[in-house]
Amino acid sequence: MRNIDSYTHTRGESVYLDDIPLTAGTLFGAVYGSPVAHGKILKLDLSEAEAMEEVVRIFTYRDIPGKNQIGGIVPDEPLLAEDEVHYNGMPVALVVATSVEAAQSAVKKIKIEVEQHTVVTDPRIAQKNGSLLVPPRTFKLGDTQKAFESCAHIFEGIAETNGQEHLYIETQGAYALPAENAAIKVYSSTQGPTAVQRHMADVLGIPMHRIEVDVTRLGGGFGGKEDQATSWAIFCGLATYHLKKPVKYCLHRMEDMRMTGKRNPYSSDFKIGLDKDLKIIAYEVTFFQNAGAAADLSPAVLERTLFHCTNSYFVPNVKATAYSCRTNLPPNTAFRGFGGPQGMFVIEAAIAKAAEGLGIAASEIQKKNLIQTGEEFSYGQKAESEAIVCWEKVQSLYDVEKIKSEINAFNTSNTLYKKGMSFMPICFGISFTKILMNQARALVHVYTDGSVSISTGAVEMGQGVNTKMLQVAAAIFSISPNKIKVNSTNTYRIANTSPTAASAAADLNGKAVQIACEKILERIKAVAAEILKCGSSVIEINGEKIYANKEVADLSWDQLVMAAYLKRVNLSEHGHYATPGIHFDNTIEKGHPFAYHVYGTAITTVTIDCLRGTYEVDAVKLVHDFGTTMNAIVDKGQIEGGVVQGIGWMTMEEIVYDAEGRLRSNALSTYKVPDIYSVPKELNIHYLETLNDNLAIFRSKAVGEPPLMYGIGTYFALRNAIKAFNPNSNIGFFAPMTPEKLLMGLYSSTK
Ligand code: MTE
Ligand code: HPA
Ligand code: MOS
Repeated sequence: MRNIDSYTHTRGESVYLDDIPLTAGTLFGAVYGSPVAHGKILKLDLSEAEAMEEVVRIFTYRDIPGKNQIGGIVPDEPLLAEDEVHYNGMPVALVVATSVEAAQSAVKKIKIEVEQHTVVTDPRIAQKNGSLLVPPRTFKLGDTQKAFESCAHIFEGIAETNGQEHLYIETQGAYALPAENAAIKVYSSTQGPTAVQRHMADVLGIPMHRIEVDVTRLGGGFGGKEDQATSWAIFCGLATYHLKKPVKYCLHRMEDMRMTGKRNPYSSDFKIGLDKDLKIIAYEVTFFQNAGAAADLSPAVLERTLFHCTNSYFVPNVKATAYSCRTNLPPNTAFRGFGGPQGMFVIEAAIAKAAEGLGIAASEIQKKNLIQTGEEFSYGQKAESEAIVCWEKVQSLYDVEKIKSEINAFNTSNTLYKKGMSFMPICFGISFTKILMNQARALVHVYTDGSVSISTGAVEMGQGVNTKMLQVAAAIFSISPNKIKVNSTNTYRIANTSPTAASAAADLNGKAVQIACEKILERIKAVAAEILKCGSSVIEINGEKIYANKEVADLSWDQLVMAAYLKRVNLSEHGHYATPGIHFDNTIEKGHPFAYHVYGTAITTVTIDCLRGTYEVDAVKLVHDFGTTMNAIVDKGQIEGGVVQGIGWMTMEEIVYDAEGRLRSNALSTYKVPDIYSVPKELNIHYLETLNDNLAIFRSKAVGEPPLMYGIGTYFALRNAIKAFNPNSNIGFFAPMTPEKLLMGLYSSTK
């Protein structure tokens, strides 16, 4: 089934925040962000801005009626700076004016005096200074110290991954409207409607039931709107609260790039030990996460880095320690993969280093260590593994031996162009790592004409979750998808939602829809049984027709629904789902945190230009474990998008902050993302059906985040191509591999 949004998307009719018709009298916000990254505010001069005719009012922290606090995990983030600033762009004041232009020009007239303090942008320095957001955490399995003594080969090194700008097409934004009895309605481009509602209630000092958050869809979120959509919505809400007027604020792209956090950069130390048969016996890793100036989601991101630090390998002795380091950058945050990719990059770097040291291909080590069913991850969960199946399927399906010999032949006959290849197995745990977040609700109404409406806590952000919700209801009721409508996500209809994140939205909300539909179906069937004078158990509904004892009855879905209504049967239901069987004890860092894992393997081939340092991704060919996909087209889109986003992170997207903590890559002229010319020339996806029982909706495994990690393969393919040109190149493991870095690598030397 096609994505249900495709029709309005292609006609330009889909409604995003900026398409909501403005109510008369709407005012516009703009935030004044600190021009320095760290210091004490000595003086804030608003007078010139306030004197502008179009400026209605300028708000500072003094205007906050409730708590000046928006920290989600740790209460360490004020909405508006009080007397200190901790990053360049930290909100200090909110201007509200009669036009967008006036609000923005008033921001430029605000003056500030700041006593500047030392700016730290390096997580390792922050860690040395003892500047941690939360205490460090360590995951342990076996005994690494003892295991290293028995290793035949030990390799150590450093690996670094940079941040990544979310670059959702729709920037952050919100629109707040006053409602009766001092309530506020907020349209917000958020993945977390409840986060907006809860924090706005705190900041305004009003109960949550007075705040209605409504989300039709996002023009992308990618994790950047899981927590960080909240402040912009509260700014609008704060102004509406005081002025009793509608207030809208959609960020300019450069404001968004400067003021919001990104994927957490990491710097890591690794030590890997192998026995003579290339089995990984021990792995030690220390992660220094660059969290930015406030916790935001970083402690949770850090946790997932630990969960995924051994990727899809079984390592019997693991010690992984992670530090969440406070720096003077905008608070970094969730980004597709949520720390998993950062952890997986390091073990792939360790394997690559070992392979180079031993003069073999990394794949020799990779394939020997793939995790098997029953083997244990460092956090105690036993694998139900598809790792080997995926790996072997890739080998046979894409004739890997032929690819290898073609690459060798190419590299022998070319001096200025070289090719490289890599294998990238992935393993990603599905569930929020915070157990309590694994719950969802859905509200299903069947109307008297037989049409159905669904509301859930899931937010549509391009990933097609609404299409999947609709498919669930269509399948349970066995009615045409045309009879069903998915409503906007709204906190008055669905309360206490978890954000749409962790790739879990379709599973959690889909199961809630399933539960609600099944309950309604049961009542409707009872009515059919009464009408047809038979037992409820012999009633079936199929394609809007009613069957009794397999015989089609003279009764349609529409007629049956009306009959049920006339009999005063409840045609609405609120379904609640909470993932069963998951648990985690973080005092011992052991448990069973994931409903299931998603596996896959990609092979990537690249060609580099050894004169220019430029490159092309020739092909990404992958086998992905879908369970059984419930929507192949939507899932294909997720894989294609994820792969390209992963390649962008690993190759060209380069976030640059200067020593003063100022973002230099602050526009699309200085921050390069993949375009149509940089996507792989070939992208083959094999849908592996895996038959193990899983907790996914209709056994269709979550697909949102895992494919991003195939992109890591491109980094290692490029590295192998460089080595083909210059076996002595000294390139280290520092992603992204920009053309500049690649060029330097080609002509560098360890000797
Ligand atoms: N796909 C699109 N088109 N836009 C997005 O913003 N976000 C990704 C992924 N795919 C995203 C996307 C992220 S970070 C997550 S966690 C999942 O979608 C969330 O949706 P799901 O739980 O429905 O998979
Ligand atoms: N993924 C995404 N968001 C989250 C998670 C997670 O595992 N845990 C808490 N928020
Ligand atoms: Mo996705 S990073 O969990 O929003």
